[in-house]
Amino acid sequence: MALGLLAPKSEWMVKPKHILLIIGGGIAAYKSSELIRLIRKSGMTVRCVLTESGAQFVTPMTLAALSENEVHTTLWSLKDEAEMGHIQLSREADLVVICPATANLLAKMAGGIADDLATTLLLATDTRVMAVPAMNVRMWQHAATQRNIAQLEADGIIVMQPDEGAMACGEFGPGRLPEPEAVMAEISALMGSSSLAVQESGLGRNPLDGQPAFAPDRHRPLRGKHVLITAGPTHEPIDPVRYIANRSSGRQGFAIAAAAADAGAQVTLIAGPVHLATPTGVTRVDVETALEMEKAVHDALPADIAIMVAAVADWRADSQSGQKIKKKGAAPAPLKLTENPDILAGLARHPQRPGLLIGFAAETQKIAEHAQAKLAKKGCDWIVANDVSGDVMGGANNSVQIVTATGSEIWEQLPKPEVARRLIAKISEEIS
Ligand code: CTP
Repeated sequence: MALGLLAPKSEWMVKPKHILLIIGGGIAAYKSSELIRLIRKSGMTVRCVLTESGAQFVTPMTLAALSENEVHTTLWSLKDEAEMGHIQLSREADLVVICPATANLLAKMAGGIADDLATTLLLATDTRVMAVPAMNVRMWQHAATQRNIAQLEADGIIVMQPDEGAMACGEFGPGRLPEPEAVMAEISALMGSSSLAVQESGLGRNPLDGQPAFAPDRHRPLRGKHVLITAGPTHEPIDPVRYIANRSSGRQGFAIAAAAADAGAQVTLIAGPVHLATPTGVTRVDVETALEMEKAVHDALPADIAIMVAAVADWRADSQSGQKIKKKGAAPAPLKLTENPDILAGLARHPQRPGLLIGFAAETQKIAEHAQAKLAKKGCDWIVANDVSGDVMGGANNSVQIVTATGSEIWEQLPKPEVARRLIAKISEEIS
């Protein structure tokens, strides 16, 4: 190009990231429509490949309309081969996403089988590949599927963990397709971009996106600090099918983990059973019970700051039945409980006690008074007292008071991500 001349517009415009979306067969395929909408909304482009079984659940017409691109369904299309061969189709993308990825597709990938358009271009691609599995719980837990997942991960494929919950087939457990917002958050993280759609959903938000690279410490005040966070409920099993639980959604703890990571911290998030995507840049350890949570907390030490947001079950079943407890006539089986360890109080007494230890408290009345008492009883530095008289548990907003040894401050009701950002700002100020 001659000096002094502007490049044609197409050369200096930043090319949007391009996703090749492979849609496998399964009832979860309908969620791919919403994923396409979120990809488009984030400014990326998307082209779809629909497998033969995927076409039983969504139509090429829907996908073409939403993606505003041709939909590819067969290896044997002369028109496609003339215009764009399957090799090129697999390579023009910045990321290949398989959503939903069925047990069959994963097995073929792990075995290097290429017998249709989707599997052929997966074998031909030199682009990063992310698989979002969705299948029946037994299929997911089957040794063959787990073996295939391990093989795919060893081959460098990124495999998202499926969600746990009630499934279309009537069973319950892991295997559900994660919500499209969570899949989008993962795509944005891999593309290193902040997507509008993800920001709207509050997942994977990175307020540093677009900031200049200079003065990192001013923008990342927790750089070099290890922040340990517990979040969500714990489940305390009674027998193989029943457990004691509470209504905690984990949203506040996950928002705090995201805000701490955005502030530059190394974050370990110890999560009870929740249906939330891991925030970008956060190391997540999944646990089920209070005892597992306590062990994970101790294993994660040392930490500079610990924020115990989890709604840990106060009690667990005294003994856990190995078999499902059967109904015996009219009288219900007595349930004997035993107290769980207080993870927060234990951490306060631990030889490796974090320098700043923060607890949460759920209160419905005399909030500051009860929080002050809890501060002393637990031996922590701050208590974030939630007013749970409304719909805080599982809701989008939170009303909190920050109680310290020297006083308390009341914050107005705020969305949980905003409470998280303010708390992280206050912590950053405290330790600076
Ligand atoms: N906590 C803990 N381990 C427990 C119980 C609670 O680490 N076994 C932590 C929670 O993560 C939270 C704080 O302690 O940071 C809450 O303390 P808790 O005594 O459970 O307070 P409330 O939930 O407010 O319950 P209550 O008022 O009934 O004492």
